[in-house]
Amino acid sequence: MEFKVSDEVKKARKPEYNIHPLILSRWSPRAFSGEEITDSQLMQLFEAAKWAPSSYNAQPWRFIYAKRNTEHWNTLFSLMGEFNQSWTKNAAVLAVIVSRKNFEHNEKPNGTANFDSGAAWENLALQAEYMGLAAHGMAGFDYEKARTALSIPDTFKVEAMAAIGKKGKKESLPKEMQEREAPSQRKSVKEIAMEGKFGG
Ligand SMILES: Cc1cc2nc3c(=O)[nH]c(=O)nc-3n(C[C@H](O)[C@H](O)[C@H](O)COP(=O)(O)O)c2cc1C
Repeated sequence: MEFKVSDEVKKARKPEYNIHPLILSRWSPRAFSGEEITDSQLMQLFEAAKWAPSSYNAQPWRFIYAKRNTEHWNTLFSLMGEFNQSWTKNAAVLAVIVSRKNFEHNEKPNGTANFDSGAAWENLALQAEYMGLAAHGMAGFDYEKARTALSIPDTFKVEAMAAIGKKGKKESLPKEMQEREAPSQRKSVKEIAMEGKFGG
């Protein structure tokens, strides 16, 4: 299926070089519709996440999720700060992303566990965009509370949360959030890619 960049994204984002439209189109809206998504849609997102590359193929990522209208929703919802609660209340799913700190095969520290979970999260976010959904990452929550409330063992690091769901109308957000509800910009390629040495 051909994936097209929306007019909104086309207007806001001007890539310096040609890239796949899905990558340019993914952004993190706060307006969600309040609708549920199906279990099979949700599993498609985790399926995308699981195909991320990882050091030794260790797959350190784990996703602890709660669907709205379930007993688990309040537990995950209560981890977030007021700001994030104010817009995630209309998401369909909340998730906490954690990484196994050590390799399973030898229990030695996995120095790229966080890096690899980041890759899995981006796979999930791109798959969401492809399916007409949105996934919005969050650090604005209580990491220690997450560990206890969700029984996360010490062998895992709590990385981030995500709100997932169907995109909603910008007008459903509080005024000050409406102004920020747009695809964001990026540093230039020149600033992030350095030939030969740092700063080169
Ligand atoms: C790990 C992580 C934590 C984030 N924390 C929050 C958050 O707590 N609240 C929020 O509204 N947005 C949060 N964001 C969204 C970022 O602000 C957003 O990804 C960034 O501005 C780039 O914009 P884009 O995703 O729309 O392209 C977070 C994103 C990531 C990846």
